[in-house]
Amino acid sequence: MTRVNYDDLAKSIAALTADEDDLVALMATVTCEVHHSDDRFDWTGFYRVVAPELMKIGPYQGGHGCLVIPFSRGVCGAAARTGTVQRVADVDSFPGHIACATSTRSELVLPVFDCTGTVIAVFDIDSDQPDAFDDGDVAGLTAILGAVFTK
Ligand code: SME
Repeated sequence: MTRVNYDDLAKSIAALTADEDDLVALMATVTCEVHHSDDRFDWTGFYRVVAPELMKIGPYQGGHGCLVIPFSRGVCGAAARTGTVQRVADVDSFPGHIACATSTRSELVLPVFDCTGTVIAVFDIDSDQPDAFDDGDVAGLTAILGAVFTK
């Protein structure tokens, strides 16, 4: 059972992205490193804000994800709409959850802000385990996303 160490993960992502400012390259690197850091993470990826109230899929790891998500739909839409973390212990109890895989039991979605405080994407992790995410995941991933996307 591989369990993430957020201090180590943050240091490796910082080293890998130190001289990079291309968003796709940054998102691909964060997705890869986070996904492979913990066995709980069965789908990991970004949805990018591409127009007002609209997101499209970005770099991800895992099975195929839906391509388009409006701010009005899903856990990702809730994170983008409210600018707040969505920690869902049981996706079947979340009204309007978008099921990209029938195996998903719980989900964590964090808004991604740029240096102006604008939501530019959301970072989505699905787990096949129920209630898989905790406060440490929220704190660790919030710190990593802030370090990478607001520099
Ligand atoms: N479950 C998400 C949709 C993205 S798939 O999980 C990759 C949602 O409800 O917004």
